[in-house]
Amino acid sequence: MGPTPDAAHAASDQEAPVTASPFHTVAWLAEGAVSVLDQRRLPARVEYLRIADATAMATAIRTLAVRGAPAIGCAAAYGIAVEAHRLRAAPAEARHAGLQAAFEDLARSRPTAVNLFWALDRMGRRLAAAPADGPGAAAALLDEAHAVLGDDRAANLRMGAAGAALVGDGARILTHCNAGALATAAHGTALGVIRSAVAAGKRVSVLADETRPVLQGARLTAWELLAEGIPVTLIPDGAAGLLMARGEVDLVIVGADRVAANGDVANKIGTYPLAVLARRHNLPFYVACPLSTVDLSVAHGSAIPIEERGADEVTGYGAERWAPPGVAVRNPAFDITPADLVSALITEAGVLRPPLAEALRAVMAGASAR
Ligand code: MRU
Repeated sequence: MGPTPDAAHAASDQEAPVTASPFHTVAWLAEGAVSVLDQRRLPARVEYLRIADATAMATAIRTLAVRGAPAIGCAAAYGIAVEAHRLRAAPAEARHAGLQAAFEDLARSRPTAVNLFWALDRMGRRLAAAPADGPGAAAALLDEAHAVLGDDRAANLRMGAAGAALVGDGARILTHCNAGALATAAHGTALGVIRSAVAAGKRVSVLADETRPVLQGARLTAWELLAEGIPVTLIPDGAAGLLMARGEVDLVIVGADRVAANGDVANKIGTYPLAVLARRHNLPFYVACPLSTVDLSVAHGSAIPIEERGADEVTGYGAERWAPPGVAVRNPAFDITPADLVSALITEAGVLRPPLAEALRAVMAGASAR
């Protein structure tokens, strides 16, 4: 059993989840710390980290204890809140310097998922408008972190409802990486659509790519879906083409780490080949993402920074090494799927169809007007 999150904020959104997860990805603890499910240990162990400062939160993000674009955003928001709580009684100068360092440290933790920067911007704006005293500023920042979490949970539920309409009864859905409750505040993006389709009475089955090299599909997606009794079959990443050619896939749904203004999508490495295969086999390729994942400041996918992770993720897993020592390795963690291969973006504002650049402009103008 993990730590008990502050009950008032564990269920602070207006809408009840379609299915309640037996775990939390990120939650505030009443004692003034953050509880983060350590996803590196899953599925073998369900263990929570107790995080009491921004440096520890940046490390948790960098080392993938918490991962998935929306969850990273929530974690960063709580990283600022917990730092403000820690420094609440410090002299003003030390508090300002500490918070400034926290923003910088968290912003350096991972480069691709824009939700991280979106959440930090949101926290920065709230800080600018917050009371000048330490306890007042800490309370305002905690309130904003709760709002980031609550908004993500609500967005996922709306996305699920919008996307479920695209899923036919009996659909065989291929997904990549983990875009589930573990990757968000709750419910999930791609898996949220699947959960909502199931809740609407549709019988679906999921083909989960194992997702080399960190195995988010094998470890996390399979774990989440099995726990809920949603039929899931794990496949090696390279099997997608054969299964599509044999007519064993009806549609593909994935999440996103950043969507450029023209609709190009950055997501877990291996997503782009799936989109090419889906086009070849005439299958819909859907991307489920909250608007917090859209970055209109980036014109094209080629301008999205792609994280390169360590060689050790490719040369083995855990303590086991299977590649010969000294071999050269490339380990880009994300790829870019061009907008023209995306059938639709499933967002909390509805299903956006091509031309995606226009649809994104309109929906983001609406979002900023609200
Ligand atoms: O490296 P990760 O595990 O953080 O990558 C996660 C993904 O690529 C997800 O597909 C994406 O963040 C969408 S999660 C709702």
